[in-house]
Amino acid sequence: MSVQAPQKRLTAPEISARKGGSPIVALTSYHAHTAAIADKYVDFLLVGDSLGMVMHGFESTLPVPLDLMIMHGRAVMRGAKRSLVVVDMPFGSYEESPAQAFRNAARVTKETECGAIKLEGGRRMAETIRFLADRGVPVMAHIGLTPQSINTFGGFKTQGRTRDQWAAIEEDARVVAEAGAFAVVLEAIAEPLAAKITKDLPIPTIGIGASAACDGQILVMEDMLGLSPRVPKFVREFGEVGKAIEKAIKSYADEVKARNFPAAANTYEMKD
Ligand code: KIV
Repeated sequence: MSVQAPQKRLTAPEISARKGGSPIVALTSYHAHTAAIADKYVDFLLVGDSLGMVMHGFESTLPVPLDLMIMHGRAVMRGAKRSLVVVDMPFGSYEESPAQAFRNAARVTKETECGAIKLEGGRRMAETIRFLADRGVPVMAHIGLTPQSINTFGGFKTQGRTRDQWAAIEEDARVVAEAGAFAVVLEAIAEPLAAKITKDLPIPTIGIGASAACDGQILVMEDMLGLSPRVPKFVREFGEVGKAIEKAIKSYADEVKARNFPAAANTYEMKD
C-alpha cells in the first residue's frame, strides 16, 4: 500500500532564493475557497489587512484587530496547501517595541501556522525586523506607500516621483534587507526607483503599483477579479466577477418571484 506524501508548502527562504529568477506571483487572500483556487497558481498568499476595507467595509486598514487577521489567516491556511501564507500584522500590533511585535507575531504564527508575517515600515522598523528574524519569525517588509500611515501621508500618492525623494526610500529598502527581511513589498513606487531598488537589493521586491521591474507582483484579489467597486488606476481587472455575481443574484431573485423553483429536496446529497 502506498501512502501519498503530504504536499510540500513553499517557505520564506524559497521565496527569498527566487531573487532575480522567475517572477514571484502573489495575491492577497482572506477566504478558504478562493485561497484553494489561487493556491494552484501563486507562490504566496498574503492575508493582507486590506481585508478591513475589502471584506469588512472599513474606510482604511487602521481599525483591523489582530484577532480578525488570525481568523482570516486560519481560513486561508485551510484553503491553501502549497503556497506560502504570509499574514499582515495590523496597525498597533507591532510598532510599540520589538517585544510587542514578537509577542503578537508569535500568536499569529501559533494560531494560524502561517509561514511568515508582514509589517509596514522601513528604517523605523529595522530593529524589530532583526528581533523577529533572529527569533524564528520570517518577516516580509513593506515600504513606499504604507497604508497604515495614511494619516501621515495624507492620501494614496505615488512615492519617489521626484529624485529628492529617492534617498530615503532607497535607505528604507537597504535597511530592511540588512535587518533580515526575506522580501519587501514596494507599494506605489515610481518605476525608475523601483527598478533601481530591485537591482541593488539582495532580496526579492514584490511590487504593487511599482512597475514590472520588480522581482514579483502582488494585487488585491478582489481588485484583479473585478469585484471591488473602485480600484487604483494601476490595477488590471482580469475578470468581471462583480458583474457575474449581480447577474446570478438577479436571476435567482427573478426565479423566486416567478415561483419557478426546483422541487423540494428529499435528500441533502451533494452534487458531484
Ligand atoms: O494589505 C494588503 O493587501 C497589502 C498589499 C497591498 C500588499 O499589504
